[in-house]
Amino acid sequence: MSTSVIIPAAGSGVRLGEDRPKAFVDVGGATVLARTVGSITGAPGLDVDRIVVVVPGELVERTRAELPEADCEIVVVAGGAERSDSVRAGLAHSTGEFVLVHDAARPFTPSAVFARVVAALRAGHPAVVPGLPVVDTLKKTDSDGGVVVTVDRAELRAIQTPQGFHADALVRAYAGDGDVATDDAGLAERAGIPVVVVDGDPDAFKITTPWDLRLARAMAKGWD
Ligand code: CTP
Ligand code: MG
Repeated sequence: MSTSVIIPAAGSGVRLGEDRPKAFVDVGGATVLARTVGSITGAPGLDVDRIVVVVPGELVERTRAELPEADCEIVVVAGGAERSDSVRAGLAHSTGEFVLVHDAARPFTPSAVFARVVAALRAGHPAVVPGLPVVDTLKKTDSDGGVVVTVDRAELRAIQTPQGFHADALVRAYAGDGDVATDDAGLAERAGIPVVVVDGDPDAFKITTPWDLRLARAMAKGWD
């Protein structure tokens, strides 16, 4: 099955608080985005035909010039204000039967996670997300910090990317123009598309906060 990967990399990284958009921050000698693209082009057995990288409009030309040559086609387009706007922009340039959406901010995602997502797509699931069991106890609180209830964590999963879709399912998920969600499967669920969870991996963590960046830089030392 032909596959494309959309990499949303157009966020500004407010929670990280660096002097540039998160995808362009250096992690041990390579940008977050370059590492993420490399993790896809270098993944054994992951046969990707096209990668669509979605970046802030003013960084499109620079990204085209700076991303290393790869075996597959790499297309760079401008994103939008919300993550879902950026994915929608990428979707317009994606090709093939399967489309994966993978955060630029998860540079150490193991190839085995991609493989599990693609295997479930091949098995016929229209929408597949990697997820991890939640290890902390979860409590719902009110606005004063009072505990309302302890939530049963056994039923919960922390969801990562790559999120994989049969192309027609992702197009349906994104058909509602103004829809916003923190992940792509959230839109699929709203469109009535069944979503399944496969095993994620702690290494697929998302760089969100300064602590995450310190972890990523420490990991990079043992990575290359
Ligand atoms: N993203 C995007 N377009 C946006 C917002 C987010 O392409 N308008 C991308 C980010 O670049 C990132 C991924 O979506 O790779 C996950 O989003 P998040 O971790 O929230 O990144 P930011 O939005 O950049 O961070 P923050 O919310 O802290 O500003
Ligand atoms: Mg964000």
